[in-house]
Amino acid sequence: MADASTLVFGATGALGQHVLDALVLRGRSPETITAAGRNRARLEELASAGFRTAAVDLSDSASVAEVVARHSDIVLISGRDPNRLAQHESVIEAAKNAQVRHVYYTSGVRADDDRFEINADHWATEKALIASGLTYTILRNTWYIENYAQSLAGPRFTGVLAAATGDAVVAAASRKDLAEALAVVVTTDGHDNATYSLSGDADFTYADIAEAMSVVLEREVVYRPVASEELRAMLRKTGMDDELVSFLASLDETIAAGVFARVGDDLSRLLGRPTTGLVEGLTAK
Ligand SMILES: NC(=O)c1ccc[n+]([C@@H]2O[C@H](COP(=O)([O-])OP(=O)(O)OC[C@H]3O[C@@H](n4cnc5c(N)ncnc54)[C@H](OP(=O)(O)O)[C@@H]3O)[C@@H](O)[C@H]2O)c1
Repeated sequence: MADASTLVFGATGALGQHVLDALVLRGRSPETITAAGRNRARLEELASAGFRTAAVDLSDSASVAEVVARHSDIVLISGRDPNRLAQHESVIEAAKNAQVRHVYYTSGVRADDDRFEINADHWATEKALIASGLTYTILRNTWYIENYAQSLAGPRFTGVLAAATGDAVVAAASRKDLAEALAVVVTTDGHDNATYSLSGDADFTYADIAEAMSVVLEREVVYRPVASEELRAMLRKTGMDDELVSFLASLDETIAAGVFARVGDDLSRLLGRPTTGLVEGLTAK
């Protein structure tokens, strides 16, 4: 092993960008950080900003092992591929073989609650990491506020936020806050073998989210709860394929069952300040 440096898988993504920014803001110099991902254009931009870069597909376990072995600390931002569990396991295996100092994993809130299928990969990854015997920190991230920024198009034209989430509450947080919490953990002591549940400070209702959309869109937006079947029909009408319709409808059912309701105050404690509110999060870059 290993120069004393941090490898960030998922660095080319939206959360990864904030993680890199937050590490630098907390005093890490870019040349001690390796940004890993597949997106070569994005990697070139990061190289121009002074970061080391590694073009790695998480499915290529030999490349994963090679790059992991050159680093002391690994940040594993969860992937998006259907086989992401195998990819995460290959990172953990490589980290174990190289005896790296610390692995940080971004998981999901309530990862250990088996009512929520959405978290099965996270929970299996957490168990593999703990079983590896490596020093770890797990950050169980809540739902991003920015996810609702992607849903502004409908409300912009109709004034209605339709969702099959009933009277669910969602303690969403901005990616920037979640990234800053990760950077705090990477750059300070006292987080060995800890698991943090990172919720926003407030349990937002969908009426709160509609109200924040009203502010952002400068028009009235109201929440209209719909049944899952009605949501599916509405989504099909937009031309979405069946797989995406099913995914989005089942996501609403999971939200309705409370997966993203608040879990403690780990996030604001790590940040040393209140978490970002809905309007600011909806307009964040
Ligand atoms: N909390 C939430 O609300 C929420 C919502 C959706 C997803 N997530 C999870 O949080 C993660 C980070 O969120 P995000 O918004 O930053 O997502 P994102 O912008 O899509 O970024 C995903 C990152 O994962 C990398 N990646 C995916 N598959 C890869 C592969 N096979 N090999 C190498 N790199 C791979 C991507 O790299 P390239 O682009 O370079 O391939 C990218 O850097 C997601 O990947 C997902 O697991 C959380």
